Amino acid sequence: MTVTAERRVERIAADFPILARPTSRGKRLVYLDSAATSQKPRAVIAALVDYYEQYNANIHRGVYEIAARATAEYEAARVKIARFIGADVSEVVWVRNTTEAINLVAYSWGNANLRAGDAILLTELEHHSDLVPWQLLAQRSGAELRFIPVDERGLYVLDDLDELLDGCKIVAAAHVSNTLGTILPLDTIVSRAHAAGAVVLVDGAQGAPHLPVDMKALDCDFYTFSGHKMLGPTGIGVLYGKRDLLEAMPPFFFGGDMIRKVEYAHSTFSDPPRKFEAGTSNIADAIAFGVAVDYLERVGMPWVREHERLLTAYALERLAPFERRGLEIYGARDPELISGVISFNLADVHAHDLASILDTEGVCVRAGHHCTMPLMDKMGWAATARASFYVYNTEADVDALCVGLEKAARVFGI
Ligand code: ALA
Repeated sequence: MTVTAERRVERIAADFPILARPTSRGKRLVYLDSAATSQKPRAVIAALVDYYEQYNANIHRGVYEIAARATAEYEAARVKIARFIGADVSEVVWVRNTTEAINLVAYSWGNANLRAGDAILLTELEHHSDLVPWQLLAQRSGAELRFIPVDERGLYVLDDLDELLDGCKIVAAAHVSNTLGTILPLDTIVSRAHAAGAVVLVDGAQGAPHLPVDMKALDCDFYTFSGHKMLGPTGIGVLYGKRDLLEAMPPFFFGGDMIRKVEYAHSTFSDPPRKFEAGTSNIADAIAFGVAVDYLERVGMPWVREHERLLTAYALERLAPFERRGLEIYGARDPELISGVISFNLADVHAHDLASILDTEGVCVRAGHHCTMPLMDKMGWAATARASFYVYNTEADVDALCVGLEKAARVFGI
């Protein structure tokens, strides 16, 4: 990284108060677990406080000043998200998180469209959130589950894609693998799925935070993501759906704020997106998610991708000498093919022990199965440690990871 680039990242990191807090052992906090959840810039935290201190009121109901402001800010956040992903505002449904978005589609679209004899096509890299809801849909409908295989580097093997798509009604695939960082070849998947008459849901939980996305260009039918993985709060996420699909889908939850007219025996529902948003929404978090997206737009998503690409390349280079001492790095090891995620193990040290030693140096990584148990079984890994990068990570953070690995090697006599 050039000195100018390093300074830019340091200025970004200074916007995140938590990164200035030393750990209880007096170490600098080196946060390498953004694939689990990202840190929050001051502006996002301030937006939450501002809502609760200045205009806390329910939306779409009150006519008084603070209620009108709450509604306006909440709907303005939806407009920001729509612009950020190149969608129409009516195509942006607020949900709690990616998991809820996928469950919504699997239930609402899935129940209406899947029959015995149909197929649902997933990939072998899916997070449990993009697997379990489809297993349940397959059980309800009698549809068959199929999987696009991956090779030992976690790269997609598309040789049999046309056969896999035969009779398939929906393809659901992660834009970026949370375990290995593999980037989905979206153009190929979407065009071939559409040619076969299937709709495509992209689990963008690890995509939208790290790669520029434009719904018109991607042409997928559904795209799902969570605020907390992209500088926003927990408890708020988005289901994008093409307008005609959302219109045809029945609501998933029923109650206040999603109705048009209610009589004692019968009700009619609002147009999308409101018909999917029953009950009081996560107002403050939606507004703060809008502020997070403002932040990412200021930084620039092409810059985010490039920054993570360079940092991944630097990390792979710095980790290479440890390979002679038993470090195993999983995945494609090509920064062009992966997005800011490196999974690894050090000799026969359990990933949890490794993560605990790294923690003593202030380095936060996730360890375990990363909610991808079938992938771990297929690859024969009991668990891995995983470092994941974001806008605030510097080369110094990667260096700190290496210091932690050195310590782990010493402790375990490697
Ligand atoms: N899906 C999140 C992760 O990969 C929680 O860590």
